[in-house]
Amino acid sequence: MSWRNLFRVKTDFPVNQGDASLKRVLGVRDLTFFGIAAIIGAGIFSSIGDACAKGGPASVYLIIICGVACAFAALCYAEFASRIPVSGSAYTYAYASFGELFAWIIGWALIMEYAIGNIYVAFSWSGYVVHLMDQLGWILPRWMVTDYSTAHEMYQTVMSKIQGAISGGEFGELWKSANLGSYSQANQDAFEAFANAPQLFGLHLVFDAPALLINVLITMLVYRGIKESRNASNLMVILKLIAIVLVIVVGVGYIDVKNYTPFMPNGFEGVMQGVSALFFTYIGFDAVSTLAEESKNPQRDLPRGMFYSLLICTVLYVFITLVLTGMVPYDTLGVGDPLAYALGAHGIDWLEYIVSIVAVVAMASVLLVFQMGQPRIWLSMSRDGLLPPAFSRIHPKFSTPSFATIITGLMVGVPILFTNEGFVLDFTSIGTIFAFVLVCGGVLLLPPRKEGEGKGFVMPFINGKYLYSIIIILSILTVRYNFPNYFIDLLESDWSTMFVVAHRLYWILLLGLSVMSFVRSWSLIPLLGLSICAYLLTGMEANNWYWFFGWFGIGLVVYFSYGYRKSKLATN
Ligand code: ALA
Repeated sequence: MSWRNLFRVKTDFPVNQGDASLKRVLGVRDLTFFGIAAIIGAGIFSSIGDACAKGGPASVYLIIICGVACAFAALCYAEFASRIPVSGSAYTYAYASFGELFAWIIGWALIMEYAIGNIYVAFSWSGYVVHLMDQLGWILPRWMVTDYSTAHEMYQTVMSKIQGAISGGEFGELWKSANLGSYSQANQDAFEAFANAPQLFGLHLVFDAPALLINVLITMLVYRGIKESRNASNLMVILKLIAIVLVIVVGVGYIDVKNYTPFMPNGFEGVMQGVSALFFTYIGFDAVSTLAEESKNPQRDLPRGMFYSLLICTVLYVFITLVLTGMVPYDTLGVGDPLAYALGAHGIDWLEYIVSIVAVVAMASVLLVFQMGQPRIWLSMSRDGLLPPAFSRIHPKFSTPSFATIITGLMVGVPILFTNEGFVLDFTSIGTIFAFVLVCGGVLLLPPRKEGEGKGFVMPFINGKYLYSIIIILSILTVRYNFPNYFIDLLESDWSTMFVVAHRLYWILLLGLSVMSFVRSWSLIPLLGLSICAYLLTGMEANNWYWFFGWFGIGLVVYFSYGYRKSKLATN
């Protein structure tokens, strides 16, 4: 094995793959709609509440930071997309810049974004559906609408309290612990799900049936083909835009400015605790780049589709965050359906109802786009020899990557049986931010364009030689001014907390980038993209990192036992 092979770079990107190529039917409006379809979903309807409950109204700062990070990443995606108009997203781009091993790592990270992300969306979708059914009086047994992991954990928590009370002889306490009235409704439901579940060989049958069902339906739709999927998603996008605008317009009238004090109740650290939840709200614009082979004019339309969708969503998110935290006290927003909750709190029932229905529709559209994106990345990886040939098999009648679509369905469906929402949310965000960091880094390493190379979008070149260092120095001064103890604490602490480790590494990275940009005159836009995305990673907890590295460990085993030997670059 030669280490050089790990960095072999793909230079040849045939756009048409013979008769089996995908149908080119998408224009710029379709791509923008695809972007919005992927972006607005479980994040804005669900996870945003958790972030606001931790960070307060100041979460709007993080919304803007995430939006800016994504905009820079989008510029880098666009630069790549206009040079390399084939499907595969960040994976393909990394293959052209960093070489094979990094491409593989990105491809592996994108599974976290697409397939694992869809698990979160499927869970949230199920949450809203069950909420609506409950309101209509169609009450399903809790064991078939709760995920196993949450139900099991809650059951054990309650039982261990009861055991503790028995062994301590505290009968009064026993009564209190067993009295589930002291738990929130969601926790009571989770306990009941496990306690009342039918059993098979001692195993409690608890599972989230609606989440499984939607996954099967979406997989079938994607398997049938791109045109049908496009029609379904355009309608969904219009519906959700109307609902979100309605919440903003109606909600503004109910803002109580008292709710904005304190604006940052738990400091900036509290705001940063919402990073997984808020970053998740933006994930999806990059899914547009996986549709290169199905767009009529990918060089021109892919970048536009990404920008338009990102811009529209950022504006809506800023307003929604301010409206939500203005309507109700921030600390009440940590619920699964924060939009519906804030409306309900003011008795705006008609809109609460509409929002719940639209949330169900919106999340289905996110599922659709991600379920389409994942097989197309695998398709590219398989064409490159890094995955078995079955992954690039195109269905003769529907012209879709059939085998890869089914495997995606399984990758989303099977974990629904044993994971929970919180875990998959963190896992998705960390993997996606990491992929963005590598995409921005990849653009830095791209050679200058040759005359006439690529059409459409060309990233403006702003020389970062001095400018980047100046921006970093200004940032240091701003942080120093607003948080006088930040650098002192960072210098004086030991390496015992994740916060200190992450922030020290971050500043070392910025220092390294300043030096490199001075030496190499790197382009400012990808430098800033890399810096902001890497900053978001500092908000991740230690636990997320363990899982992240574990996942990559598995990825490397797969690569060295298959892709390294079978790669087209190795066999040609
Ligand atoms: N941004 C997508 C959502 O919020 C993933 O559902």
